Amino acid sequence: MSQMKKDCGYAAAELVKDGQILGLGTGSTTHYFIEKVGMRVRDEGIEVMGIPTSYQSFLLAKKWNIPVTTLDEHEVDLAVDGADEIDPNFNLIKGGGAAHTLEKIVDYSAKELVIIADESKLVDVLGAFPLPVEIIPESVSPVTKALEDMGGKVEIRMGQFKDGPVITDNGNFVLDVAFGKIENPIHMEKDLNAIPGVVENGLFTEMVDKVIIGSKDGVKYL
Ligand code: 5RP
Repeated sequence: MSQMKKDCGYAAAELVKDGQILGLGTGSTTHYFIEKVGMRVRDEGIEVMGIPTSYQSFLLAKKWNIPVTTLDEHEVDLAVDGADEIDPNFNLIKGGGAAHTLEKIVDYSAKELVIIADESKLVDVLGAFPLPVEIIPESVSPVTKALEDMGGKVEIRMGQFKDGPVITDNGNFVLDVAFGKIENPIHMEKDLNAIPGVVENGLFTEMVDKVIIGSKDGVKYL
């Protein structure tokens, strides 16, 4: 599995052009993208800047001496990000790492968005992976009720090596919501964000330009 993540992460890094501003996604697959961009900075002397989507990608960029910047300073040329599920129309579920709010902001603003993932992430219909929804902590009860009314089974994401709920990089909670098959992700993305207390949900629709899959048979460009 990690070889497939590495293959597609490294392949995406080869798309990077000198001088570009990069959106740096979050997760175990984008880890390899950032690593390979860092190697290209070191070995080829390409000059790029990164806009991190989490503390994880910020720290990785620093480790690899990729200068970081912000959306206030620069526009994103190319964002590369991972996914938890990818459907045939390139709609996504993201947020397995609780970073989907900043990921969506950076990915949405990019001139080009490339998703990298191992082949296990390809699905016919989104929804086997519970949908992450970042919420304002004070809104747990009303948002949970609203999500249950929409047919979701809701769990507050709990920390590992931390008692109590996961706190996002933005200081919020994450609800993982099992809806079953999500037949209309475009509508659902908008409906969920209309609930007061919801900061952002993990559906990414109509955003992706290219998908690079790491598989047992090598890298596939979709
Ligand atoms: C983080 C994300 C990740 O991109 C997603 O969870 C995929 O992660 P990985 O590459 O580790 O499988 O959305 O919020």
